[in-house]
Amino acid sequence: MRIALLGAPGAGKTTQARFLCEEFGIPQISTGEMLRAAMRDKTPLGLRVESDMRAGNLIADDLVIGLAKERLGEADCRRGFLLDGFPRTLAQAKAMREMALAIDCVLDFDVPDAEIVGRMGGRRVHPASGRSYHVQFNPPRVEGLDDLTSEPLVQRDDDREDVVINRLRIYRAESQSLGGFYSAWAATGDASAPKYCRIDGVGRVEVVRQAVQSSMQ
Ligand code: AP5
Repeated sequence: MRIALLGAPGAGKTTQARFLCEEFGIPQISTGEMLRAAMRDKTPLGLRVESDMRAGNLIADDLVIGLAKERLGEADCRRGFLLDGFPRTLAQAKAMREMALAIDCVLDFDVPDAEIVGRMGGRRVHPASGRSYHVQFNPPRVEGLDDLTSEPLVQRDDDREDVVINRLRIYRAESQSLGGFYSAWAATGDASAPKYCRIDGVGRVEVVRQAVQSSMQ
């Protein structure tokens, strides 16, 4: 199974990715997570993207497409994968279409901006894995600690309210049109076009999970 998750920052992509990856036994390919790891390791790529990541700006298409291509060529992706946060621009979607790795299903999460700003303030993440929690809506079993490793959870640098507002503005300008790209492609009847599903991302995590499951049947 090859899945791509679209949606605004904070729409719940990473939260739902965890369930889907477990269900299908596929790796989660998060370009955001790969870029954060490069920053933590202070690689040349990490140093190059650091200021844009902290400001919530998109990273240049050629860099991200190269990163995704390299990762998708690894052995664990042969039996499928889940893309979390890629593609995020029309150029990235077109590059993905040319990769001859037909995606089965694109899930596009719809959440209003006001709800997103509230979610981001309470988000806590496990830096090493990218697992995402919320202090109120999706708490870890033990406060402040990751469920699987018991390591401390942290707040992401780009979850500050002013940065979240910039990320939402960029999403509306650069990424929201991808829904139209994929629904129009699916409507052509092209056999390699992915199934496109718009998901109402508002509601309890479990309710959204059920909406995801039924959309994929
Ligand atoms: P990335 O890491 O991909 O961040 P994002 O897309 O902005 O998405 P988030 O991780 O913020 O949100 P999410 O939808 O995964 O929500 P989550 O499940 O955590 O990208 C970061 C940066 O990297 C970008 O700004 C850019 O600079 C760069 N980048 C990455 N990919 C790129 C690309 N392709 N091109 C260019 N640049 C790129 O949920 C959020 C919170 O809500 C959590 O606290 C969660 O517990 C909670 N929550 C989840 N579901 C619910 C629910 N149903 N009800 C209540 N709370 C919920």
